Amino acid sequence: MIRLDKLLSNMGKGSRSELVKLIKKGAVTVNSVTVKDPSFKVDEITDSVSFFGEPVKFQKFIYVMLNKPRGYVTATEDNYNKTVLDLIDNPLIKKRVAPAGRLDIDTEGFVFLTDDGDLNHYITGPKCHVRKRYLVHLELPLLDASLKQLEAGVTLDDGYVTKEAKVIPIDDDKCYMDLYEGKFHQVKRMFEAVGNKVIYLKRVIIGNLPLDEALELGEYRELNDKEIELLKEREI
Ligand code: URA
Repeated sequence: MIRLDKLLSNMGKGSRSELVKLIKKGAVTVNSVTVKDPSFKVDEITDSVSFFGEPVKFQKFIYVMLNKPRGYVTATEDNYNKTVLDLIDNPLIKKRVAPAGRLDIDTEGFVFLTDDGDLNHYITGPKCHVRKRYLVHLELPLLDASLKQLEAGVTLDDGYVTKEAKVIPIDDDKCYMDLYEGKFHQVKRMFEAVGNKVIYLKRVIIGNLPLDEALELGEYRELNDKEIELLKEREI
């Protein structure tokens, strides 16, 4: 159960103080009955609330897909660089979400942001096996032997041996790489381990959810229920 004014403020209908006034003036109904008490408790699942006659859709959490440009760090604050939150112009969303996982400052593509802590952990936690697909441009042609090594597991500069990976060649010096873990600079360090160098990197899929190509660099949008399910899928 949640207070009526808090619920409406969470849903972006205004500030708590504005909403208290509007509720007292009779702008809100709960199950078709006008409720003028801002502290009235409503059940987010079973009650139907209307604001100026419009049904209010309850949404417990916010889920956002962002197409990250270069030059932004994947953090909520940073002393030196712009963060992905600087790209979110909706104050309600900006206040609530945090990025799930990190992309390097020079990596582009799919960043998922949410205030759903469980889902954030599910996508990024150490036991996470949700696929992340990257588009990789390389300095040198990708050798068949390197592809096999990358898929079998390579030893990184700190001695870590990489786990499951899939490499899908696009042409001589471009490929997709699917990873199911997320070590620091992992894609770049894996290609270094086979004597190559990543010159452009973009995350294009999380789980089974592709980045919406209609989103320009720096743009974002909220996800629908079907997309959130795709994001959680472990199996391709
Ligand atoms: N691997 C990298 O090297 N960098 C990223 O930003 C993501 C994965």
